[in-house]
Amino acid sequence: MSTNSIQNQFSKYAQEYGNNNIIQQIVSKALVRDIVGKPKKILELGCGSGQVFKYIDWEFDFYKAIDGSKDMCKIHPKATNLEVCCQDFDSDDFYDEIKNDRYDIVLSSSALQWSKDIDKLIQRLISVTKEINVVLFTSNTFKSIQDITKQNSPILNLETIKKSFSEYLVCDFEVFNYNLEFSNKKEMFNYIKNSGVSGKSILSYKEAKQLYKEYDLNYLEFEVIFIKAFSKS
Ligand SMILES: C[S@@+](CC[C@H](N)C(=O)[O-])C[C@H]1O[C@@H](n2cnc3c(N)ncnc32)[C@H](O)[C@@H]1O
Repeated sequence: MSTNSIQNQFSKYAQEYGNNNIIQQIVSKALVRDIVGKPKKILELGCGSGQVFKYIDWEFDFYKAIDGSKDMCKIHPKATNLEVCCQDFDSDDFYDEIKNDRYDIVLSSSALQWSKDIDKLIQRLISVTKEINVVLFTSNTFKSIQDITKQNSPILNLETIKKSFSEYLVCDFEVFNYNLEFSNKKEMFNYIKNSGVSGKSILSYKEAKQLYKEYDLNYLEFEVIFIKAFSKS
């Protein structure tokens, strides 16, 4: 059986944190905190600069962390039994490399919303693990901005994510909405650029100016879904 829950919104002042990835930091910490047991063989997808890895405080036998960005892999922490590889999690090359491995758990934080084929990725992952704990941003992130610009989010929507995971796994879903407040618009719009969940802006100068004028909220909206998934067999 799968379960769902939606958590109420809460606000945080972005300035209190002084960085551009506060939501990623909050969710990666929560992801690791909720891991049950101390898995020894771990695969992490879209590891970035190591937000997840830095909270792993137990000994493991093998930790494979992959990211599509060479720059991210370079700044990821290094450790014994840790392998960091620059790879695309959607690619055949990546699957060829892991298909004979077995992992106790697959982790991913703030990355799988970029998958080009989440269905295929999940099918591949269940051949190497029985447990997947991930958190993804959804297309409801920056919702009011999309309403103004009439442009669809470049990232996966909640329905697709839930459907794909439920198809192959027994899942617990928890959806959280965060409103991140700003005291001025300029900082707010800079945050979007650096947030890692907006994609490249395809707005013209005029459209961007219009958006800046029309957006009258003093906060940005984020939606994330935490998924704990177990193989059906
Ligand atoms: C928002 S960052 C999150 C990084 C880190 N997991 C964290 O919690 O801070 C998303 C990461 O996913 C990586 N990524 C996006 N698409 C990818 C793909 N197809 N294959 C591998 N990595 C990918 C990006 O390079 C980026 O480092």
